[in-house]
Amino acid sequence: MALPEKLILVCQSFRLGKEPKGICHKQTDGLLQYIEEGILDRGLDVQVATTGCLKQCEKGPVLVIQPDNLWFKGVNSEEAIDAILDGMESGTPAAEYLLS
Ligand code: FES
Repeated sequence: MALPEKLILVCQSFRLGKEPKGICHKQTDGLLQYIEEGILDRGLDVQVATTGCLKQCEKGPVLVIQPDNLWFKGVNSEEAIDAILDGMESGTPAAEYLLS
């Protein structure tokens, strides 16, 4: 199987040891499947993976596109996912969700 062109990393809040989980996973319930469906619908060459806490909790839920190193904040709705995937398709990142 060929390697994907890009990765979408979705924070799922895991932390080491006894530290409590962050908040991203609480606001992204059901969105992983929505992301997968959106990728298929758009024919994007992208793999989705989940991550531990990305240390940006106050701006979460956080999603990152690699290798572009684009970080997005407040990704807690289908509207946000659509904007981000549309941005991947068009080559213009969804500015309203960019974390800078
Ligand atoms: S839990 Fe997502 S950035 Fe910390």
